[in-house]
Amino acid sequence: MTQQSQYDFDTVLERHDSTSIKWHMIEEAMGPDSKDVIPLSVADMEFKPAPEIVDALVNAASHDVFGYDYATDDYYDAFIGWMKRRHHCIVDRDWVSLSDGVMPAINTALRAVTHPGDKVIIQRPVYYPFTFAAERNGLTILDNELVLDEAAGHYSIDFDDLEAKAADPRCTAMILCNPHNPVGRVWTAEELTRIGDICLKHGVYVLCDEIHADFAHPGHEVTLFGNLGSKYADILFEFTAPTKTFNLAGLLCSNAIIRNADLKRRFDVAAENIGGLTVSHFGMVACQAAYNHAEAWLDELLTVLERNVALVREFAARVDGIRLIEPEGTYLAWLDCRGLGFASVDAQREFLRTKARVWFDEGSLFGHSGDFFERINLACPTALLQRVLNNIEQALAARQHN
Ligand SMILES: Cc1ncc(COP(=O)(O)O)c(C=O)c1O
Repeated sequence: MTQQSQYDFDTVLERHDSTSIKWHMIEEAMGPDSKDVIPLSVADMEFKPAPEIVDALVNAASHDVFGYDYATDDYYDAFIGWMKRRHHCIVDRDWVSLSDGVMPAINTALRAVTHPGDKVIIQRPVYYPFTFAAERNGLTILDNELVLDEAAGHYSIDFDDLEAKAADPRCTAMILCNPHNPVGRVWTAEELTRIGDICLKHGVYVLCDEIHADFAHPGHEVTLFGNLGSKYADILFEFTAPTKTFNLAGLLCSNAIIRNADLKRRFDVAAENIGGLTVSHFGMVACQAAYNHAEAWLDELLTVLERNVALVREFAARVDGIRLIEPEGTYLAWLDCRGLGFASVDAQREFLRTKARVWFDEGSLFGHSGDFFERINLACPTALLQRVLNNIEQALAARQHN
């Protein structure tokens, strides 16, 4: 801990023998001799949660009865207060539906507003469960592929292509990632308005995933789709969660905002048809404590992330063949490794895992436009990130000499 810091973002946690998927998947794939391989892959954090959240959970574990729960006024007030304080967003509790996760909620929204055989727009390279959600609900994907400006290293939206895809009469929904995982774009109000106008014109529902909305880097401000005005209310679902923000993914908690009463009813019916969506007791306790009491933890974390982005920025500037796509938001970094010249994405992955002893989410997972990119999770102690970057530099130096 540095002198000014209130929280511990420095201790490197031992997670090999925990229930972490991120760490376990290495041993599954590489066997017991893989203990030295460091994963900066799955988007949870290498940090303990805020002590304020832990205290609330311990208190609940000691005193509560774990029967069937409803969300109390205090729960809604915590969520509504957060949205107002952090996002200048006024949420009415009648607009809120609970879910155990953003992906269950997106799947449910797809069931509410699409039919098998319909088409759905996504923007690859993008969080790959969007693809699974579309496919598992019998939908055909229309990929409004993001455009990388090679000179600027900056992704943007091909709006002509988006309009053409939205105009397809079988296209009924778009799953939007705001901010965008993995490319790190924080969509501007202007970009979001153009998306909204196109979707409104063609009767396409917008399923806006805002799980990363609490992470904007200096100079960028996240615009929530709901803040663009009531114009889009009839086509809009917004999906939020405290789980990325406060590292609570294992507690399963998310809040969907659906302003149009009929649309919300359709969502709630679709949820009932799969047995209902809700937040667990501990999810509610943690969410409430996080939004009410852990804001300072998040603010300190944001400074740690800045430090980590700077480290990767310096690394990419130093290492031939690697370029950082400057993140505007999220706690992820998107590294363009095409310049390393590997013959195949398999060869690049093999090199990183077996030679550099690091495990990232390989870009091709997010669609072919992500081939030879790597997604690095920056939500880790700076010392761990430094080790990962050193490993890569050393492995690349050895590769050059061979
Ligand atoms: C864009 C995005 N949406 C959804 C999720 C998963 O959300 P949940 O665990 O609430 O289903 C993630 C997790 O990485 C994500 O990055």
